[in-house]
Amino acid sequence: MPATRTLILLKPDAVQRGLVAEVLARFERKGLRIVGMKFLVPSKEQATAHYAEHAEKPFFPSLLAFITSSPLVALALEGDQAVPVCRTLIGPTDGRAAPPGTIRGDFGLSKSNNLVHGSDSDISAERELKIWFPEGLVAWRRADTIWAEPN
Ligand code: RTP
Ligand code: MG
Repeated sequence: MPATRTLILLKPDAVQRGLVAEVLARFERKGLRIVGMKFLVPSKEQATAHYAEHAEKPFFPSLLAFITSSPLVALALEGDQAVPVCRTLIGPTDGRAAPPGTIRGDFGLSKSNNLVHGSDSDISAERELKIWFPEGLVAWRRADTIWAEPN
């Protein structure tokens, strides 16, 4: 299967709680490749564009306040079926109902402050990656020399 890409956010609560390395490690250990990574406080405009599908929802104002409240980590990850694989690692929206073994299930007790965002389809991923990485991504492959025996 060709590698596909997804947009992951380690949300402000993950940063505040010092869980960046732990959550990022789960994606890396699964075999997903980092092709973009940045640390930023998103603007209101950027956050609104990202969560546009929820603009009319009652929780939208608090979602916007939360996501723009302090820094987050934006990641572009690449791998076979990256979108559904990451959604499975992340788990259901509500941390209280998310099963153990998922990121939200292991670290969260909240439906709103739920640590991680993952694109929900390849079309969403393409749209979201343009919002967070308008300059493009870093293409790379594992170098054979990493595994080679010394001469
Ligand atoms: P995400 O987009 O962040 O990956 O999360 P998701 O697909 O699991 O959930 P979604 O329905 O897309 O909701 C987006 C984010 O809005 C907040 N939310 N709060 N208080 C509430 O009822 C509520 N519902 C959703 C969460 O931060 C959720 O991740
Ligand atoms: Mg969503």
